[in-house]
Amino acid sequence: MRDKESILAELIEIYKSRHKKSAEVFASASRSLIKGGSHNLRLFSPYPFYDIQSGGSKVTDIDGHTYVDFWQGHFANILGHNPTIVLDALKEYMSYGQGLITGFPGEFQFKLAQLILDKISADKIRFTTSGTLASMYAIMLSKAFTQRDTIVKVGGGWHGAQPYVLKGITEYEDGLNQIESAGLSSYVDSTIILTKFNDEAHLEKTFYEHGDKIACFIIEPFIGAGGFLFGQTEYLNKVRELTSRHGSLLIFDEVISGFRFHAGVLQSLYGIDPDLTIFGKAIGGGMPVSAVAGRGDVLDLFSPETNPINRVKFEGGTFSAHPASMLAGLTFLEYLIKNEEDIYSKIGRLGERVRSGIEEIFSCYDIPVKCTGGGGPRGTKSSLVGVNFLNEKLDKLRFPEQIWNPKTSDIELREKIFKLAMLEEGFNTFHGYGAISTAHSDEEIQGSLDAVERIAKKWSQ
Ligand SMILES: Cc1ncc(COP(=O)(O)O)c(C=O)c1O
Repeated sequence: MRDKESILAELIEIYKSRHKKSAEVFASASRSLIKGGSHNLRLFSPYPFYDIQSGGSKVTDIDGHTYVDFWQGHFANILGHNPTIVLDALKEYMSYGQGLITGFPGEFQFKLAQLILDKISADKIRFTTSGTLASMYAIMLSKAFTQRDTIVKVGGGWHGAQPYVLKGITEYEDGLNQIESAGLSSYVDSTIILTKFNDEAHLEKTFYEHGDKIACFIIEPFIGAGGFLFGQTEYLNKVRELTSRHGSLLIFDEVISGFRFHAGVLQSLYGIDPDLTIFGKAIGGGMPVSAVAGRGDVLDLFSPETNPINRVKFEGGTFSAHPASMLAGLTFLEYLIKNEEDIYSKIGRLGERVRSGIEEIFSCYDIPVKCTGGGGPRGTKSSLVGVNFLNEKLDKLRFPEQIWNPKTSDIELREKIFKLAMLEEGFNTFHGYGAISTAHSDEEIQGSLDAVERIAKKWSQ
């Protein structure tokens, strides 16, 4: 393969020459905003392109370039950008002079709550506005319910930027095991214990050593930032068994997986019922909605009538269950449920085609690549694709440590070089590829594979 530095330098030059207006926006935006924006994942190097329009599979930037987008609103947009079905519902609602915050409980939230509860083995649900807040409240609930302090999470698990989980995410140093944020209380480090995703032996050891102190185990059954990997069924069964045996609560983070693989929760495909589940992304239909759902005796700790000693002060934020957001979420999920078979078989088929296509292409050019995102329980239809450039020969990627260890995976190649190379070809990707929506056509998917082929060819010359 050609020298990486020269490929990157070349790509940066091309990018800069094609994104002059974005460079100007970036320069002025950076005067008031940190790195020119408000979310680090959107601010890739050398500088992001600023989007002015998006619809369906595509985004068009301020310099006039149109990209087929696989980032799709942080993977929330299962129907593509700005789906008409949601826009129409919102327009009609707003045409009655409604939709903005009222400060009163609106009826859409009861409907959305019921719709989600019908899909999950849970008694109650409460809405908030971000996955981060939902994970924070779920963990506070577990601490209050168990009267314990220790949280277990897996290395590679991302549950938002809240103090109880900012350890062992993507920074690899002999494992994924360190605090990744300043500004936390000094005791936080000692209250978060890390275990390894898909590693039953490590899990047993963790519970054997700390079981009676563990308030909860929070885990994504499909790990996102950790590399688009499904939990193995035996592993997740063991997770359920050990948490129950030790009186710890099991929290499934379904912020990514909820409604992504079918019109419901991933846990039901495993046949595992956690005590609490958190949702985000897709359940808002493009608007900021998240939720904590779970056992009634645990969620009741949110109630103002609960004994103050155990009560968790999740009062709800100003914008919790925002009327327009509830309507967007309800419209979106109703559509997913009604069209479940068509939607998920299409995007799952395309996902499979991309994963196998990319591996095949790179193998023809002797560049070792493994795609993640497939291989879920009961033939899960997965529309998520990660592309990993391997430094060592591996048959299968199973652990986040393999995704984030620079000795195993070439992180710079995945996150920076391939990203810019695909942009030059007209495709906006994330973690190597990203999320396929119903708006992506077969032709666009084939186009992305043709682009990968051209890139692989160029790199190997
Ligand atoms: C699995 C998971 N949990 C929680 C979060 C945090 O959600 P939010 O960004 O809405 O705060 C994310 C965000 O990407 C996520 O992927």
